[in-house]
Amino acid sequence: MSVASSNNNVADPAMIDFYLNGKRRQCADIPPDCSMLELLRGPLGHTGTKEGCASGDCGACTVAIGEPTADGSLNYHTVNACITPAHQAQGAHLVTVEGLSRGDALHPAQAAMVECHASQCGFCTPGIVMSLFVLHETQRTRPAPFTQQRLESALGGNLCRCTGYRPIRDAALQMADQPDTHPTWADDPSLPGAVASLCRDVMGRTEGASPGHYTIPRSLEALRELKRERPEARLVAGATDLWLETTQQLKPLDDLIDVSRVEELNRVEAHPEGWWVGAAVTYSRLAPLLDAEFPAFGRLLHRFASMQIRNRGTLGGNVANASPIGDCPPVLLALDARLLLDGPDGERDMPIDAFFLDYKQTALKANEFIRGIFLPRSEARQLKVWKLSKRREDDISAVLAAFAWRLEDGVMRDVRLAFGGMAAIPLRVPAAEAALEGQKPDEAAFAEAKRALRRELSPMSDVRGSAEYRLVAASNLLERLRLSLDMIPTDNGMEVMLDAYAH
Ligand SMILES: Cc1cc2nc3c(=O)[nH]c(=O)nc-3n(C[C@H](O)[C@H](O)[C@H](O)COP(=O)(O)OP(=O)(O)OC[C@H]3O[C@@H](n4cnc5c(N)ncnc54)[C@H](O)[C@@H]3O)c2cc1C
Ligand code: FES
Ligand code: FES
Repeated sequence: MSVASSNNNVADPAMIDFYLNGKRRQCADIPPDCSMLELLRGPLGHTGTKEGCASGDCGACTVAIGEPTADGSLNYHTVNACITPAHQAQGAHLVTVEGLSRGDALHPAQAAMVECHASQCGFCTPGIVMSLFVLHETQRTRPAPFTQQRLESALGGNLCRCTGYRPIRDAALQMADQPDTHPTWADDPSLPGAVASLCRDVMGRTEGASPGHYTIPRSLEALRELKRERPEARLVAGATDLWLETTQQLKPLDDLIDVSRVEELNRVEAHPEGWWVGAAVTYSRLAPLLDAEFPAFGRLLHRFASMQIRNRGTLGGNVANASPIGDCPPVLLALDARLLLDGPDGERDMPIDAFFLDYKQTALKANEFIRGIFLPRSEARQLKVWKLSKRREDDISAVLAAFAWRLEDGVMRDVRLAFGGMAAIPLRVPAAEAALEGQKPDEAAFAEAKRALRRELSPMSDVRGSAEYRLVAASNLLERLRLSLDMIPTDNGMEVMLDAYAH
C-alpha cells in the first residue's frame, strides 16, 4: 500500500482518492478487503481512531464521512470505520478525531468532554467525540431540540466501560456553551466543491476496475455488466453484515462489487400503488418515508442497530443477507412487499414470501442482484411491529413480530402475521392468520390463533432465547395485538404504551 498527498487527477482505478481532514489523499494498491480503520491506522498513520470490537458494536472506531449534497454543502454522518470498506472513502471527505481541533483550540465536542470529565481510560473517547462532532454539525445546519431520544440516537452506538453515560450526555448538552471553534479545514470555502468534483471524477474512473479489485459501478447497466462478467464477485452495500466475514471469520473478500453508488438503486419512487425503494437506500435515508407512511416500521428503526449502522446499512442488504433474525424481512412479509431482482438475463418481480428458501438460502441467482423493494400503499391497513431483544439499543432480535390487518365491519381482513427468530427463515404463519381472517378480534379468535401458532412454529434455542421462550413470547405478542385493538386512547390520541421499552 502506498499513500500520497496530491492534486493529481490521473489515477489507477484501485487507488482510493479522497479528502482526509481537509487534505486530498491518494492511496494506491489498497486490497479490496481493507477497512477504513486499517487504512487510517496503517498507511495513513492516523492512530487516534481506535479498534475495540471490530464488529460495529462498540463505536470506538467512529469516524465521520462528508458527502456532497445537492445544495453544494457536505453532509456528515458517522460510520464504524472497522466494518466500512476503505474503498468507500472514494471521493468523500473523511474526518477523524485528529481533524477537529484548530491548533491548540479544541472543537466544542472535545472541550465539552473535557469540561464534563467524560473520559477516563479514553479508549472510547475518540469515537464518542466523533459522534458528538456529527451531532454538533447537524445542529449547526438543521437546529432542533436535543431531546432524550435524539441524544440516545446520536450516542447509542458508542459504548463506554469506565465513565458512565451521564457525563457524556452532559457533554452533548454543553457543546453549545463552548467557544465556537471550527476545525481549520472548515475555513476553506472551496472544500465542498472540491470534494463534489473529486467524487464525480473518481466515480468515472473506478467503473472499469478489473477482477480482484474493489469495483464501484454507478449505473444499473454497469452493474448488470459486472455481474455478467463476474457472477461470483460478492456484492457489498453498507458492508454492515458482509464485513464481519473478514473481521470475525477472517474470510478473504477479494472480489467485490460495491452497489452503494448505483444511481438507480439509490432512488425512492412514489407511485399510486406504493413506493419502490432502491436496494442501496440506507436506513437513515429511508427513515422519513417510513415515519410518514409506515410509522410502526419507522419506530422499529430506533431499535435497529446504531446510528453508525443505520447510516450505512441498507434494506436490500438486510433482505439479501436473509438472516432469520433480520428485522426488516418480517415487516416486509406483513406488508406484502415485492422485490425486483435484476441481472444480465433481465429483471423479475417476486413476492417477498417466495424469496427466502432455507437458512440463508434465497431465490437470488448467482448473477442477480436486488434492485428494489416495493412497499404497497394501503390506507386501511394497520401495522404493528414489536422487537424483543435483550438490550434496547444496538441489539439483534430474539423475536420480531410484524402484524398487518384491516378492520372491515368489525372483522379482521387480509391478516398477515410474520415473525423473525422463530425458524430458519423469516416467515408468515398461515394457520394462525386463517384463525383470525374474517373474525372479530375477540378472545376466542385469538385463542385459536395462538394454538395454531404453537403448531406451526418450532424455533431453535440459542444465546438470545430458548425455543420455549420464543414460543411463549410469540404467543404473548399475539395477545398484545388483541389487547392493543382494545386499547385505551390517551388525551392526545396516542396508544397507551404497554411497555416503555417496546416500540
Ligand atoms: C453492530 C450491528 C448491529 C446490527 N443490528 C441489526 C439489527 O438490529 N437488526 C437487523 O436486522 N440487522 C442488524 N445488523 C445487520 C445489518 O446491519 C443489516 O442486515 C443491514 O441491513 C445490512 O445491510 P448492508 O447494506 O450493510 O449489507 P451488506 O453487509 O453490504 O450486505 C449483506 C449481504 O447482502 C448482499 N447484498 C447487499 N446488497 C445487495 C443487493 N442489492 N442485491 C443482492 N445482494 C446484496 C451482500 O452480498 C451480502 O451478502 C447489525 C449489524 C451490526 C454490525
Ligand atoms: S471497533 Fe467497535 S465498532 Fe468498530
Ligand atoms: S473512558 Fe474508558 S471506555 Fe470509555
